[in-house]
Amino acid sequence: MPTLEQWLVALLLAWAGAAGAGAPAVGLGEPLTQAQLARHDITVFPDGRNLPPGRGSVTEGRAIYRAQCAACHGEKGIEGPATRLAGSDGLFGWDDPLRIVRIKKYPLLIWSMGARWPYATSIFDYVRRAMPHTAPKSLSDDQVYAVTAYLLHLNELVDANGVMDRQALPKVKMPAQGRSVSAWP
Ligand code: HEC
Repeated sequence: MPTLEQWLVALLLAWAGAAGAGAPAVGLGEPLTQAQLARHDITVFPDGRNLPPGRGSVTEGRAIYRAQCAACHGEKGIEGPATRLAGSDGLFGWDDPLRIVRIKKYPLLIWSMGARWPYATSIFDYVRRAMPHTAPKSLSDDQVYAVTAYLLHLNELVDANGVMDRQALPKVKMPAQGRSVSAWP
């Protein structure tokens, strides 16, 4: 025999079900609009597919880098404390031998982004989605092109008067491409 409480709960559920019938649910399962999708559809592929329109120069990138990146990555991209972005492609950097004294964590692991990353397009993708660390996605596409151009310049892969856009960026050949195993040609 059900107890009184069980009868009451069953009655309440039946009432709630009847009241809810036909009324809109909590809004789950609504299709996303194109504008909502576009905010997340930002993957840039190694061959440059899905790079947005826009452009940015090394000069513009230098100013952005100094204001928004240097505090963590260092003026030249080698000083840290955050990940090394330029220089040395060996386990020990002769251009910065004292880093071993300053940096307590992974002092020997100083392969820079410029030395490790096989595709320049991935720098654009990463910076746009993840940097600056404290305010990801705060840079415009032009600013990301500019700061990417500057990072490539710090790695001596782009001239001081270089400009990056969706045509130029995939043409930059990273030194690490030959050292990487990849599905991309
Ligand atoms: C508040 C500190 C901070 C600021 C500011 C900052 N970064 Fe970073 N950055 C980091 C940290 C920490 C990492 C490592 C993140 C990880 O591995 O998850 C990183 C990683 C990176 C990497 C990947 C390096 C690698 O080889 O893995 C790039 C590229 C980069 N940052 C570029 C930038 C650029 C460009 C800016 C300025 C627009 C910037 N960062 C501003 C802290 C910062």
